[in-house]
Amino acid sequence: MSDSKRVPILAANWKMHKTSQEAMAFFDAFLPLVDGCSGREVVVAPSFVALEKAVERCSATVVQVAAQNMYFKEQGAYTGEISPMMLQAAGVKWVILGHSERRHIFGEGDELIGDKVKSAVDHAFSLFLCIGETLEERDSGKIEEVLSRQLEKGLEKISASDYERIAIAYEPVWAIGTGRTATLDQISEAHGFVRKLISGLAGSTVAEQIRILYGGSVKPANVKEIMGLADVDGALVGGASLEPESFAKIVKFEEN
Ligand code: PGA
Repeated sequence: MSDSKRVPILAANWKMHKTSQEAMAFFDAFLPLVDGCSGREVVVAPSFVALEKAVERCSATVVQVAAQNMYFKEQGAYTGEISPMMLQAAGVKWVILGHSERRHIFGEGDELIGDKVKSAVDHAFSLFLCIGETLEERDSGKIEEVLSRQLEKGLEKISASDYERIAIAYEPVWAIGTGRTATLDQISEAHGFVRKLISGLAGSTVAEQIRILYGGSVKPANVKEIMGLADVDGALVGGASLEPESFAKIVKFEEN
């Protein structure tokens, strides 16, 4: 973390885990553990069916609630999709877009993700735009090309003033859910590159202010050193966010 004024964000991405009841049990245990925790933002992204209850449960606490995805249209014949209006009505303030599982398992392309980003800012959400290279792309020297394309396409429909709603999550695909965290050097290098790209897209002031999170096998044992890196302003956490004690340690940068 640099000495800038960027407030760190610790975000839990629960993916397809936890029923609504299980989500409530998590909050019963988790909220007292992070009560009064300051100097950081804490965001939890449960499944769609737990969102309304989660918003209700977390109101007047330090925890903000995110959706894991969103379609860009307001309504219509889009079976199985969730609109910005639905998320607004549920009281959700954040949305995760472009997660690598959406890109690689469900075939979401850069164009669609760009439309979702535009729709999210137009509907006053804050959002995490996830980007990251596969192992094959890294090994073939394409990391910069991939990150540039994902960022440019993801952000091409918004204006510079919209960037205050955006946090970037750099998540190398090969480090997600594998237990294989990127090295500190790899994280530093990628985050520095992302900040430079943002500067090219929206100017140096925006680049200095935007928060860039790392994601990929973050856990209590490594969060402190990762958060200690310049240009790392938070973490997007999957597996290690499912247990209240574990995610509370991550929120507090506690190793054990
Ligand atoms: P992980 O997932 O922490 O389980 O690696 C991170 C993510 O996919 O956001």
